[in-house]
Amino acid sequence: MAESSEAPSVAVRCDSASPERVATATELARTLGLPLVHDGAEAYPLLLVVTDERLELLQVDSTDGPVHCEFTGGAFGYRRAQPLRRELLTRAVGFKGKPLDVIDMTAGLGRDAAVLALLGCHVTAIERDPVVFALLQDGLRRARDANAADTLAERITLVRADACDYLDALPAEALPEVIYLDPMFPERTRSALVKKEMRLLSRLLSGEDDADRLLEAALRSGCHRVVVKRPLHAPHIAAPLVRQPPLQFRGRSARFDVYFPEARPTPAS
Ligand SMILES: C[S@@+](CC[C@H](N)C(=O)[O-])C[C@H]1O[C@@H](n2cnc3c(N)ncnc32)[C@H](O)[C@@H]1O
Repeated sequence: MAESSEAPSVAVRCDSASPERVATATELARTLGLPLVHDGAEAYPLLLVVTDERLELLQVDSTDGPVHCEFTGGAFGYRRAQPLRRELLTRAVGFKGKPLDVIDMTAGLGRDAAVLALLGCHVTAIERDPVVFALLQDGLRRARDANAADTLAERITLVRADACDYLDALPAEALPEVIYLDPMFPERTRSALVKKEMRLLSRLLSGEDDADRLLEAALRSGCHRVVVKRPLHAPHIAAPLVRQPPLQFRGRSARFDVYFPEARPTPAS
């Protein structure tokens, strides 16, 4: 639900009879400034649905099922059980066994942040869109509720902000070891291989494309390692400050471009 003229309208609906869940839906609609609908929801192509179990985002006019954040079961549960040390993301951030501090500038549905947290990294996951942020908050809450001993959720700190503004305001002593970004890529929507999560995010966030801005903010932050996820055959981000990435990790459908920027210049005293 970005501030774009092309962004489709979203409403909140409660599919639970539980008074507690109805109160959650009412509060969500109020804080997000979205209508709370019961019947006649056809006017809204996207619905944020409060169910008995979780918060879901649904495309009313699509056969794609709803999307939610998942850090314990489902496909992510399978991924949790896999060895992560050889994953491209693990290698791209330079993980060698010691937990890293990472800022994820584009949290999205939190899957990459969760992989890094599973490795033991401390991740500040930044998301600008309020609807996506609500899904993230719900996913982390359920992860905590499902298993209080599960430290994954404790290693992820969610921040709702524009990541460029956040980095620009970050003092040098608070810089992480790695900045990670996975900007939206327009061509993803045309591929048959695009997962329903990405199709839905592309629709929700239509009109947004600030890959150049994100990478420039990361490079000027003074962080020593910046990792960018790109579709395998996409050009590298050609923002004015950016040269060819000095290191790449290539997978079957995605690649990670790694940059090693200079330290932030200290202001003249
Ligand atoms: C492709 S998705 C990221 C997917 C994520 N890596 C995952 O594993 O689920 C990109 C996300 O970045 C967010 N985003 C784009 N520009 C942003 C900005 N300037 N600040 C914060 N978030 C931003 C979008 O709202 C979107 O949710």
